[in-house]
Amino acid sequence: MKSAPWWKEATIYQIYPRSFFDSNGDGEGDLPGVTSKLDYVKSLGVDAIWLSPFYTSPNKDGGYDVANPRDVDPRFGNLEDAKELIAQAHKRNLRVIADIVPNHFSDQHEWFQAALNSKRGSKERERFHFYDANEDGTPPNNWISLFGGPSWTQVADGQFYLHLFDSSQPDLNWDNPEVNEDFEQTLRFWIDLGVDGFRIDVAHGLVKEDVLKNHPDPQGLSNALRLDVAMDAEKRNALLLTVPYFDRQGVHEIYRKWRKLFDSYVGRDIMAVAEAWVHPPVNATRYVRADELHQVFNFDLLTAEFDSKVLFDVVERSISLNATVNALPTWALSNHDSPRVASRIGEEQARALALFVFGLPGSTYVFAGQELGLPDGQLQDSDRQDPTFFRTNGAIKGRDGARVPLPWSGETTPFGFSTAKPWLPISQSWKDLTIENELADPKSSLHLYRSALELRKEFLVGTGGITWLESSQHGHKNNSLLSYSRGSITVVMNLSDSAKEYEATGKLVIVSAGTVEAQDGKKVIPARSTAWFMA
Ligand code: NOJ
Repeated sequence: MKSAPWWKEATIYQIYPRSFFDSNGDGEGDLPGVTSKLDYVKSLGVDAIWLSPFYTSPNKDGGYDVANPRDVDPRFGNLEDAKELIAQAHKRNLRVIADIVPNHFSDQHEWFQAALNSKRGSKERERFHFYDANEDGTPPNNWISLFGGPSWTQVADGQFYLHLFDSSQPDLNWDNPEVNEDFEQTLRFWIDLGVDGFRIDVAHGLVKEDVLKNHPDPQGLSNALRLDVAMDAEKRNALLLTVPYFDRQGVHEIYRKWRKLFDSYVGRDIMAVAEAWVHPPVNATRYVRADELHQVFNFDLLTAEFDSKVLFDVVERSISLNATVNALPTWALSNHDSPRVASRIGEEQARALALFVFGLPGSTYVFAGQELGLPDGQLQDSDRQDPTFFRTNGAIKGRDGARVPLPWSGETTPFGFSTAKPWLPISQSWKDLTIENELADPKSSLHLYRSALELRKEFLVGTGGITWLESSQHGHKNNSLLSYSRGSITVVMNLSDSAKEYEATGKLVIVSAGTVEAQDGKKVIPARSTAWFMA
């Protein structure tokens, strides 16, 4: 029997290189720093690492502003360091996923510099979206950047260029064959260097339509796209159906070509996961049709409340929608763009949710530091670096809180991350959360993650779908419990603030907090915790 491809039900550890480990004492993490910590990564029981961008970049948007996608930025090392990282990962049977950014380049990319130095209508400008101003001098349309402010910036001769993100991130024109060819070269470059897959940044954004049309409610749309603005769900959903620059049919043509390119590397099992914020949710499944990409992120758990009905709906919907295209879902509780899960829903709840999610079919993404139960870093405005903070004049604090470097060891900040001042301050209050401390504490979040990922691999991966046993949809027996069985394991999560009895058969194999007592033939599940029982 052919075994399942490595990515099918993998656990993938997301590393933000700048915040992982600093090997050269400049206050910023780097590639040799990652390489030096691969034994730790391996010890977590993960199958792969996803590295956020480390390419040449002026770093206006944490490296998602790429000036040369086929080289390493000196702050992270060089190409030899990248090769060494890949080789050392492979030696430990860890796959490597690179993060590529096809929606835009940095304004420092040679193409954009050439466009600035060329005339309107030139082939250099055709690689981006350059247009003349309206007659009254205003930009070609009224779109608002996802980081705030206008989506257009004017250049010296009066033309405007489009940027869905920061003005330093001009959007590429994917109708131009040169752009397609250049990205194919980039994909091949990294595959030839040894990477096993790609995370595709803004995968839903490449193709633009109606670039000269105004949107009827640009501010409403901008609010709807942000998750932190309170908005009636119906209104938000209606607005999300009107995004003119996302999820156009043309993007699928690109991924069909890319799939052929990946598959031409016979025996390599190259995979790709799409970052695609699309609406309605069923549209996400188009990215994982058999001839397109392998996975698409499900972002619902980044914002879902710790509530049995909400979580049941998210899980059920994701499993069933993916099944329509014969794909498996993905799960992520945290990433570099969102508040950390421990801060968002609480530390115990975060552990419970992780254990609940680790039992599910599909691939699980773990953001470095999540295994420690790290909260968001507490930052002063003077520490902030996220362009969102600057483009909204401080109205939106941005994503730096999730990007604070990892605490490794010792009693005082920066806890072994660096010998210099770290690029974002690490709070002294993280003293008990260092990797060193958590390794020494059998009850730590780190040990919970390790044990759970080991059990997941041994007893759950490859055992098919889940059967719901207890949920708000199943007899409303108890809204504070959510339970399913899969293979030989029964997973029970108690979401409430008090212990709950549950009739679970089998032997307890792991619990996220406290101890499970047996009482009158039932099990008592501690408050805000998840337990696994084995038949
Ligand atoms: C999504 C990335 O995850 C985020 O960090 C970045 O700012 C935007 N795409 C733009 O590249």
